[in-house]
Amino acid sequence: MNTDPVGIFDSGLGGLSVLQQVRKVLPEESILYVADSGHAPYGCKDTPFVEQRSRFITERLIEQGVKIIVIACNTATASTIEKFRQDYGIPFVGVEPGIKPAVQLSRNGKIGVLATEATLASERYKQLTHRFASAVQLYNQACPGLADQVEYGQPDSSKTKILLTQYINPLAAENIDTLVLGCTHYSFLSKAIKKITNEEITIVDTSQAVAEQLKRVLQRELLQNTGASGIKPDVRYYSTGSITKTARAIKTLMHLDVDVSELC
Ligand code: DGL
Repeated sequence: MNTDPVGIFDSGLGGLSVLQQVRKVLPEESILYVADSGHAPYGCKDTPFVEQRSRFITERLIEQGVKIIVIACNTATASTIEKFRQDYGIPFVGVEPGIKPAVQLSRNGKIGVLATEATLASERYKQLTHRFASAVQLYNQACPGLADQVEYGQPDSSKTKILLTQYINPLAAENIDTLVLGCTHYSFLSKAIKKITNEEITIVDTSQAVAEQLKRVLQRELLQNTGASGIKPDVRYYSTGSITKTARAIKTLMHLDVDVSELC
């Protein structure tokens, strides 16, 4: 039994999709969430930049006493998690595109993947597809600009729809029956994606699976907060960007009024 908080971070607000599932699966856990919105997006940046930002946030979270860190960002997971597991004395849970569940769900073996340029170019993604997707046809689509729309709190704007149509249409033309959301920001676009695909394509979003994996790791490491202490869980939000804009976007994306503190 451990009442220390869980740290969750992302390049920005996408990781809130993971946070929402963590709140459902582990309601007794306190959480510190960091949005690196002052430096988002990560998907078009190089590995040293993403690693340097992820290290900065990881170290701030450790200073605040977190017991585990969820890297709620496919891009940051791909370039840091192996190193961080060696460098820091706490457990890490990462996220990666749901290729394995997509292969199980697809009936025609044609799977589209929406992710950032950096995730799709990463060695970790290459290994993932090599392990699980050798018997299917994958159609990878990088989506510049899409995570920004979520950062701006505009999941339903016409610009978002135009970008989604531009990225999904070529995959639909290949007759994909399954679409992997390989970036945590895109979870907030699932409604818009369903409209564009007429609900004919199965969407794979791993945020719930990540929350369940977090629960397993907490149990394994004897770190889970069972609620026995009676202390009310506390969720705190930090941003490296504008705290007003972040709070406004959280209101739009999660329908929650929250205080956001500055992290610099
Ligand atoms: N949310 C991030 C991911 O899961 C990246 C978005 C970005 O910063 O480009 O990959």
